[in-house]
This record gives sequence, structure tokens and C-alpha cells, in this order.
Amino acid sequence: MAIDRIVNTGVSDDDQQQEQELENTLRPKDFANYIGQERLKQNIKLAIEAAKKRGEPLDHILLYGPPGLGKTTMASVIANEMGAQIRVTSGPAIERAGDLASLLTNLQDGDMLFIDEIHRLNRSVEEVLYSAMEDFKLDIMLGKGPSARSLRLDIPKFTLIGATTRTGALAAPLRDRFGLIHRLEFYKPEEIQQIIVRAADILNVRIERTAAQELAHRARLTPRIANRLLKRVRDYADVNGDGIIDTVISSQALHLLEVDELGLDPADRMLLLAIIDNYKGGPVGVETLAALTAEERSTIEDFYEPYLMQIGLLERTPRGRKVTHKAYRHLGKTPHPATGQTDLL
Ligand code: ADE
Repeated sequence: MAIDRIVNTGVSDDDQQQEQELENTLRPKDFANYIGQERLKQNIKLAIEAAKKRGEPLDHILLYGPPGLGKTTMASVIANEMGAQIRVTSGPAIERAGDLASLLTNLQDGDMLFIDEIHRLNRSVEEVLYSAMEDFKLDIMLGKGPSARSLRLDIPKFTLIGATTRTGALAAPLRDRFGLIHRLEFYKPEEIQQIIVRAADILNVRIERTAAQELAHRARLTPRIANRLLKRVRDYADVNGDGIIDTVISSQALHLLEVDELGLDPADRMLLLAIIDNYKGGPVGVETLAALTAEERSTIEDFYEPYLMQIGLLERTPRGRKVTHKAYRHLGKTPHPATGQTDLL
């Protein structure tokens, strides 16, 4: 089932172009304007400075973490800070080894190649990538059968930036070829608030500090969602007010969007309630959750769970997922006495 949720961190096809335009307008171009991910920024700044000092290309970088946290933005900031060009593609878009060969041979020394959803590259493409990353060589097979021979081509000294929602989904030989592997963390509410204020400034939207703070608490600690909520609330303010976003307007708009105080939408609440009502709070396997919500397993793992676990509503145990006492309280339910729920807060 395709999910169309205000808090969905993925991007549906229909909204893709509009969403992309919004993201591009708001995307910071350099570290100075990139809010949050302090440790990641420090590590990458250091690597950039060292590479520049040695006059070498930057090591290949793997960025992983839940969607919407700024992996693509970080890649373009890195390229900008290196003074390099960046080519952007994705795992599913590179169907055959020849597609990758064509991308690589068209790069120049020092260029960056960003591959989003790199865990979705197919094996034959991945294998070509190994020698490209390691030795800047391209091994291509010419012909088939007994007359087949392989050809080794030099390719420009590029930097690969790969992005994935889960490193576990990446084959070890590929993962091992990245010099820098970093996880993007959920943002702090104060950072999300700063991101909202910055976006409002760029979009010429007037928002009161308290309203920005409220939005920040309901944005799932995720910039993509913060920016999306800001847009929806702006629409509401334009239609039902004088365009200024204050706490009254933002509360009403968020109520209409069915996004609650913790940033959960009806689909999240349904997931938690399904575990509570049908499985006494769990543990329950992820496949069962997928069936309960009519979502793909990967959607549950990539979209729902990271945030629900981050805020302590869901726990992952060896026997499956469990709802916490905090989740029971949030949903106005009484915990099942026999389940031995651990209380995270
Ligand atoms: N917009 C989206 N993500 C951002 C970030 N990390 N810093 C500033 N603006 C952003």
C-alpha cells in the first residue's frame, strides 16, 4: 500500500516534484548553514581539510539513518565544501553494469557521485563498483563465452557518497570499501525549531517562536517533516487567519492534520493500538506488524519504527516488538499486567 501521510518521510511519486522543489529551496549549501548533526559535521570537516591538504580526493563516504534526516543535503554540502561537482543518482536507477560504467567514465577527477538507496543496487552493478572504488579502475567484460575477455579502464579519481536507511542491508564487501561510515541521528527539538525558523525566513512566512516550538515537537525530529508541516500550517494560516502562524493557528492546523503532540499520525496510532489490542502489547514479529498495517516490512522498519523507538513508545526485543508503558499512557490505555512491560520513561 502506498502511504500518503503528512508525517511520511518517504516521498510519493505524485508529490515528488513539488517536494523536491521545496527541499531544494530550503537545503543549506554549506556547513555554516547546516543545523544539527554536529558530530558528523566535525568528522567530515576534518576529512575534507585533510584531503585538501594532501591534494587527494576525499575518501568514499557512507551515510545511513532513517529517511528525511538530510543525507542528500549532507552530500551536496560536502561537494560544495570540497569545491567539487556532484552527480546524483540512486540504486534502483542504475539497472545494469553498463549504466554505472557510463556514469563513472563521465566523471572528472575530484567529482562526487551520490548514490541514494545504495542498498538497492543489484549484484552485477555492485561488483563493478568494487574496483572502481578501490583502484579507480573499471573492469568490463567484452563478448560472451570462450571469446569473452575483460578490459580494465582507468576512471577519474572520484568520491562515492552512498546513502542507505540501513547499513545491515548492505553487502559487507561494499560497506568495507567506504573510508567513512556515519549515521545521521534524529535531531534535537531545538535544532528542528531552528530549521523551522530558517525555512520560514526563506519562505517569507511569519511564525511566532512558540508556534515554531510546537511544530518542532510534532515533526518527528526530522527536518523533511518539519518543512512539510510548516507548509501545511502556512496554508491554514493564509486561509483561516492573516497568514501569521501563532500557537492557535498551529494547534488548529495540526489537529486538522491529525498529528498529535508526539508527532504521531493515525497510522502510527493504529500500529501501536493493533499491538496493544491484538497482542497484549507484544512481543510481536515485524511480519505480523506488516500484515496488521497492510504495509511492507521495509516500510515498518524504515519509516515507523525508528521514530517510535527513538521516543520510547516501541521496543525491539529478541522475540519481537513491544509497546512500552509510555505508549499505553499516550494512547490512554491501561497496560496489560501480565506482559512485563518495561517502562522507558
Ligand atoms: N533544512 C533541512 N535540513 C536542514 C538542516 N540540517 N539545516 C538547515 N536547514 C535544513
